[in-house]
Amino acid sequence: MMMSTLPDRSPPPAEMPLVHPSVDRAFIGVLVRDFYGRVRADARLGPIFAGEIRGDWEPHLEKMTDFWCSVILKNGAYSGRPVPAHLKLKQVREEDFDIWLGHFRRTAEALCPPEVAAVFIDRAERIARSLKLAMFFRLDRPISGAAG
Ligand code: HEM
Repeated sequence: MMMSTLPDRSPPPAEMPLVHPSVDRAFIGVLVRDFYGRVRADARLGPIFAGEIRGDWEPHLEKMTDFWCSVILKNGAYSGRPVPAHLKLKQVREEDFDIWLGHFRRTAEALCPPEVAAVFIDRAERIARSLKLAMFFRLDRPISGAAG
């Protein structure tokens, strides 16, 4: 089959809001809680988060719901600075992002229709890439995973 006859499944551009009947703040809140449930149960990531978020997780989950609402719905709910929040996490390794993204991908695929999962995963991968650059990029070292 010719590629041009396939429907275009690529996510909308990152600066456009996703408009979909099932995607609102309540839905994003469920997704965020499911995802952090997986992260907290992860042998590598769980202790990193437990070391930072002691006690009540609800403020973090609300902040992350705001963050994902801003990313996906473009509603301006989040106005924090993710880069410094991660720069201070000295125990995080570059490979930890693959674990993070694996949980995120499985969460999105479990809870969203495929075209919606594709948007969440695309955004997460873009932001993960820029966080990794901020945390690990050194001029004297090639970027791991980059082609060429
Ligand atoms: C291995 C990967 C990652 C680890 C271990 C990690 C860990 C953390 C931790 C411990 C916090 C601080 C929680 C708090 O004090 O409230 C945090 C905050 C945050 N993370 Fe991550 N994170 C990772 C990847 C990501 C990715 C890929 C994204 C986005 C797609 C992201 C988005 C955020 C945001 C928005 C905050 C809140 C920053 C703020 O405004 O304070 N993180 N993360």
